[in-house]
Amino acid sequence: VDAALTFRDDLDGIDWRKLKRVLARDNFDNGRTPRQYQLSFENSYATCLVFLGDRLIGVARLLSDGVCNAYLVDVWTHSAFRRRGIARAMIERLLRRCGGQHIYLFTDGHVEFYHRLGFKQRGTGLQRIVGTWLENDAR
Ligand SMILES: CC(C)(COP(=O)(O)OP(=O)(O)OC[C@H]1O[C@@H](n2cnc3c(N)ncnc32)[C@H](O)[C@@H]1OP(=O)(O)O)[C@@H](O)C(=O)NCCC(=O)NCCS
Repeated sequence: VDAALTFRDDLDGIDWRKLKRVLARDNFDNGRTPRQYQLSFENSYATCLVFLGDRLIGVARLLSDGVCNAYLVDVWTHSAFRRRGIARAMIERLLRRCGGQHIYLFTDGHVEFYHRLGFKQRGTGLQRIVGTWLENDAR
């Protein structure tokens, strides 16, 4: 990966309004408020944010029980910076923090990308939304 990029595993000083704006402009906003973005990142087991100068160009985060099960979410590389190994580098950083654990994820359209990172399809995914999507006290 480009040496000019900074990979951060902290969330110090993140402007959550700006983060939402950047993701939305690149069609990767699922409707969370800035506050919901903040809480979802802060409550994650591990996060990775990638910057080129002060420009955010990648995010990924991992939920984990710290022992056996982890779940990868919010994997995004800015569309102008794709296919340069950024998402691979983010995910490898996150996975270094959950050795010995099973990592799960859901994806709609990026099966080949995850295959290249060593993920294999397994079982059947099921999901359920409790109440109404994103309607909770996080706002
Ligand atoms: C999927 C996504 C995160 C990949 O990011 P990226 O930084 O371009 O990925 P990388 O450059 O690290 O690619 C890693 C490997 O996957 C391959 N790859 C990347 N995107 C791919 C795609 N769309 N289809 C097939 N292979 C792909 C790369 O060629 C590379 O292979 P290699 O290391 O064997 O050469 C990016 O396309 C993205 O942000 N998409 C929109 C958001 C999204 O849908 N995220 C996934 C949510 S589940």
